[in-house]
Amino acid sequence: MKKPVYILAIESSCDDTSASVICKTKVLSNVTANQEVHAKYGGVVPELASRAHQQNIVPVVQQALEQANITKEKLSAIAFTKGPGLMGSLLVGTSFAKSLALALDIPLLAINHMQAHILAHFIEDSATKQPSFPFVCLTISGGHTQIVKVKDYFNMEVLGETIDDAVGEAYDKSAKILGLTYPGGPLIDKYAQLGNPKAYSFTKPKVGDLEFSFSGLKTGILYFIQKQERINPNFIKENLNDICASIQYTIVEILMDKLKNTVKQTGIKQIAIAGGVSANSEIRKRLILAEKHFGWTTFIPKFEYTTDNAAMIGISGYFKYMNKSFSDSSITAKARLKVTD
Ligand code: KG4
Ligand code: ZN
Repeated sequence: MKKPVYILAIESSCDDTSASVICKTKVLSNVTANQEVHAKYGGVVPELASRAHQQNIVPVVQQALEQANITKEKLSAIAFTKGPGLMGSLLVGTSFAKSLALALDIPLLAINHMQAHILAHFIEDSATKQPSFPFVCLTISGGHTQIVKVKDYFNMEVLGETIDDAVGEAYDKSAKILGLTYPGGPLIDKYAQLGNPKAYSFTKPKVGDLEFSFSGLKTGILYFIQKQERINPNFIKENLNDICASIQYTIVEILMDKLKNTVKQTGIKQIAIAGGVSANSEIRKRLILAEKHFGWTTFIPKFEYTTDNAAMIGISGYFKYMNKSFSDSSITAKARLKVTD
């Protein structure tokens, strides 16, 4: 009988240390240590992130193996995030994965973090359906905002992207203006659910049909808040829910507009979302409605596979393993890597 394929995956591209064990396309464990240390700085501090990864990686891997109930000798391969991300953070995962693969004498699988966010849709789970090729994926995270045509597991084309800030940055920077802690995206989402989305209106950017721009929106929000605070110093405190709901409404309107343009241009009606911002309650709701209103088939990842996690690295590793796309020990981390690389 053929031995089942078990892959240990490691993700350390930014501020989450994560390890996962998967068996074929099923996730057996997915353990993540978040780094609280950055909250008070209003953003990720690279030096602190790599130090925290060094402290977390051994216990996180151990816990992932324990939860999966397997020993490392049973592993078929080690998958790790090669990039893009913070160099110091990537290096911790890369060196750990290389040494373990060498010690166990098993193959090494180098994974592109951006592809992995998209391939998370192929994790076997009874609660979610899986797209077929080709489909469109709106990748929305703290570092990226892209519309990607996914032709095959590792054959992707960028149809459009942001010309300045990523959507996650727009959330986090708006949150900072409102005095909320980092990462502010989930907080804006939380308060937005209690507010009136039409309370205030913010201008949507004028860019190409499949392009995004969020820096003007951020400046618009900043000027609006400064003006209101001159009139009422307690403006934010008294209207936080409405401000958050209005910001969220504007951002999600922009995302939905771009998806409508994409469907018009490509004729593809299978629409997926991926990345940290795909955890957002409003974009999730709007995509469910789009099934009914526009006849799209939409793919919304489970919460645990939206923000950075190792399970998505594991599933990508599984497809690379099946293709025998192994890396040798000379492989290095790359801070800059496109979804098409
Ligand atoms: O994919 P991710 O974990 O890391 C990157 O690769 O960037 O995305 C993190 C981003 C942050 O900007 C965070 O504020 C945002 O995802 N985010 C959200 C929500 N949850 C996370 N933004 C809006 N609503 C949410 N519920
Ligand atoms: Zn990410």
